[in-house]
Amino acid sequence: MAEFTLDINGSRHTLDLDADTPLLYVLRNELGLTATRFGCGLGECGACTVSIDGRSLRSCQVPVASAAGRPILTLEGLGTPEDPHPLQQAFIDEQAAQCAFCISGMIMTAHGLLQRNPSPTEADIKSALSANLCGCGTHLRIVRAVQRAAKVS
Ligand code: FES
Ligand code: FES
Repeated sequence: MAEFTLDINGSRHTLDLDADTPLLYVLRNELGLTATRFGCGLGECGACTVSIDGRSLRSCQVPVASAAGRPILTLEGLGTPEDPHPLQQAFIDEQAAQCAFCISGMIMTAHGLLQRNPSPTEADIKSALSANLCGCGTHLRIVRAVQRAAKVS
């Protein structure tokens, strides 16, 4: 065990943890930030995607030791129900969620895309989200939501 300080959504949290604890477990189990989903735990579904240093990464594959001291953004840090981020509003406007299990990871991956490329083509969006799985098959609405958000961002 060692002490790690995490900078999450602008707040600092100091915790005693094993260095190889996946960031996903810390977010959900230690800090109650459950918007970040546990899908596969194997880096294969994208449900656990968060932003670290502005890069979209799969938090189930990030040891807490490598996330410490770097700015981490989760879905909870993007916006609020009263003041949603344009991506969150666009997903609502396009009714892009069915069960919504994948949506946090989709939004955080799309957030990374729009940071790098504020005017993505449809092909850019499909490419960026291609490794995020959605068992409900709402992909077309998800792409439309990202296009909508790009117009107002
Ligand atoms: S839970 Fe991390 S990629 Fe599936
Ligand atoms: S909306 Fe159900 S998994 Fe994507």
